Amino acid sequence: MPHRPYIVGNWKMNGSRAMLAEARAIDRAAGRYPDVQVALAPPFTLIGALREAITAMGVGGQDCHAQAKGAHTGDVSGAMLIDAGADFVILGHSERRKDHGESDELVRSKAEAALAAGLTIIVCVGETLDQRDAGDAVAIVSSQIDGSLPVGEVANEAAAAGKIAVAYEPVWAIGTGRVAAVEDVVAMHAAISERLTGIYGDAADKVRILYGGSVNAGNASELLAAPGVSGALVGGASLTSDAFLPIIAAAGTGEA
Ligand code: PGA
Repeated sequence: MPHRPYIVGNWKMNGSRAMLAEARAIDRAAGRYPDVQVALAPPFTLIGALREAITAMGVGGQDCHAQAKGAHTGDVSGAMLIDAGADFVILGHSERRKDHGESDELVRSKAEAALAAGLTIIVCVGETLDQRDAGDAVAIVSSQIDGSLPVGEVANEAAAAGKIAVAYEPVWAIGTGRVAAVEDVVAMHAAISERLTGIYGDAADKVRILYGGSVNAGNASELLAAPGVSGALVGGASLTSDAFLPIIAAAGTGEA
């Protein structure tokens, strides 16, 4: 069963209040494409303001701590994201795995904490170029899925309720303009889907698998039409409404 396409913008460490006008324009487009689920993950500092500025799209964080509160200077918990107006969180992005040394185990504990707090989650996985060149891409991503996805009763229920998404983002395709070949994306999404079935059983069908890595207006239609691709996680091309709107349009059937 195909899912409602899920198009998520990841602003990374970009954006100030001056960019809320772009977010409003993206939100108006989201309103014109009710068959597409659109969401934006700005930096923490903009979550509250973004929530107040928009009506149609989801608002999310780009990380949260595995604990609900405590002595963790600089960190933000899932409950705090909800309090600020977020409804989802991106976890285990390769930039966090690299910049902050986040392990699969840590990503899993963050994912479980985020679900317990009431957020929906997008867990990111993806291989490096060396790993792909060595022929290890599927093995690496499979082990990231096995190690990073939340497990237990809360996670099983969240999976069944469609509250868990996975983003396959080959590290070498992020911010490089180099997009993965559609056949490689299809093969990887199929491998991920198989691992998810191992974890969640039949509920795995409800876990959406997004592609991320240099998605833009020119390649979105082909990627989004590929079997097993339920949406896109978009970095650079989500920073302006001009770049992001064609991607939303490619996913939907509404009027631009
Ligand atoms: P990109 O980033 O679209 O700029 O390649 C995607 C991501 O890192 O989520």
